[in-house]
Amino acid sequence: MPKSIHLFIFLLVTCSFLVCLYYNEIEKNVSRRFGPHLLGSNLRNLRSSEDISALTGAVLSNVTPSASVQHGDEYQNNTALAYYSANTKNANVSSTETIHLAVIFCNVEQKAALKWNFKKMTRSLIKHCSNKIALYFHLVTDPSSWEIAKEIIHNESKKTQFNIQVSAYFIDTFAKQFITTVQVLQQYFSVKQGTYYSQALFYVSVRLPDLIPSDVTRLIFVDVDTEFRDSVEKLNQQFEYFDDQQLLGLAPELSPVYRHILYVYRNQHKTSLLGEPKGKGFPGYNSGVVLMKLDKMRQSVIFQSLLTNSSLGNLTDKYSFKGHLGDQDFYTLVALEYPHLFYTLPCNWNRQLCQWWKSKGYDDIFDLFYECKGFISLYHGNCNSQIPDANN
Ligand SMILES: *[C@@H]1O[C@H](CO)[C@@H](O)[C@H](O)[C@H]1NC(C)=O
Ligand SMILES: *[C@@H]1O[C@H](CO)[C@@H](O)[C@H](O)[C@H]1NC(C)=O
Ligand SMILES: *[C@@H]1O[C@H](CO)[C@@H](O)[C@H](O)[C@H]1NC(C)=O
Ligand SMILES: *[C@@H]1O[C@H](CO)[C@@H](O)[C@H](O)[C@H]1NC(C)=O
Ligand SMILES: *[C@@H]1O[C@H](CO)[C@@H](O)[C@H](O)[C@H]1NC(C)=O
Repeated sequence: MPKSIHLFIFLLVTCSFLVCLYYNEIEKNVSRRFGPHLLGSNLRNLRSSEDISALTGAVLSNVTPSASVQHGDEYQNNTALAYYSANTKNANVSSTETIHLAVIFCNVEQKAALKWNFKKMTRSLIKHCSNKIALYFHLVTDPSSWEIAKEIIHNESKKTQFNIQVSAYFIDTFAKQFITTVQVLQQYFSVKQGTYYSQALFYVSVRLPDLIPSDVTRLIFVDVDTEFRDSVEKLNQQFEYFDDQQLLGLAPELSPVYRHILYVYRNQHKTSLLGEPKGKGFPGYNSGVVLMKLDKMRQSVIFQSLLTNSSLGNLTDKYSFKGHLGDQDFYTLVALEYPHLFYTLPCNWNRQLCQWWKSKGYDDIFDLFYECKGFISLYHGNCNSQIPDANN
């Protein structure tokens, strides 16, 4: 063989090696970006739920605040839940409106800070409510977290006059019940594959219409790392601004994460407003607070069909969308295609505090996304951000 061919082969091999090295470096970078520690609100509470024992649910049981739900017998069946009425001082219940809230509170044994988060969230919620309402918590939880949640709610409810009730839905039961949804969604919106049990938490909100009893028609889903600075009654009033087609209300995402995820799509569609800051375009949605018209979601043919592999596969292809933020990716992707299904809440009702993306090559435009003017009604300490102390 002539020497020049040797040289050519040598150069070819060297180049391939360097290219591999380069991509490997990018890969590492990407996983650093999308690693679990930075996923903020969306890697909510969970480490792994494999260790949560295979309890299969609970029967409906009325317990007094001091009594605890017995493990064993009462956790036999699937659909039902434990039930707990914390406060019955307000006898005139029929004249009050009940606001239904859903919260995920899981794995507190592995992550003790969650207990503190839940306490602050509950306290701030209760503190700003008038006595004209009743609150109904729908907690998606596990048996040991549930014991703690009950105690916190009981303690906090002593400071109020109004009625508070709680239902618990166990996450392992949910995972079994909605295994197909979890498997389909996690392949598009999760970096971790295969462990659908530990992933179930991140997709709870999309199946709430089927989890929550059918007589509940409106629901407010809030992350546990949030704090109220205003009355949930005012948040509830936002439902009145929905038009006939809107099923869900979410506030804009206050970071450029979806600009990043839509990079390929935006390269192919240079004038697209998708991934632009709010006001100018659509920055995506954040799922720290989600207003749900449950009845409409149950009836919506589009919404139901969106939970299938075929629909989601088509949508993720169309937008070259590879997510890592769970339910929030689902809402954002759906909103790219069907914006009319969504009401956009003011950012003041979900003031996210995560600034992780600021130093990741988006310094110049970060503030356009992050900005949220005016009185803050609800803070969201996503990616473990510190929530400012309340004034009083
Ligand atoms: C659980 O469900 C089975 C079948 O649906 C029923 O026969 C049984 O009574 C239920 N157990 C409890 C404790 O509700
Ligand atoms: C209950 O509330 C209604 C409407 O606010 C009021 O008319 C009624 O007198 C109240 N009943 C009691 C027993 O307080
Ligand atoms: C509830 O209040 C009791 C009595 O003040 C206290 O001992 C307990 O630690 C509180 N529980 C929680 C979970 O904060
Ligand atoms: C979804 O569809 C893709 C391609 O059509 C297929 O590879 C994948 O296994 C499907 N996933 C599920 C959970 O059905
Ligand atoms: C997805 O795309 C394929 C191919 O274009 C089409 O046959 C299928 O009906 C689409 N699925 C949905 C649910 O729109």
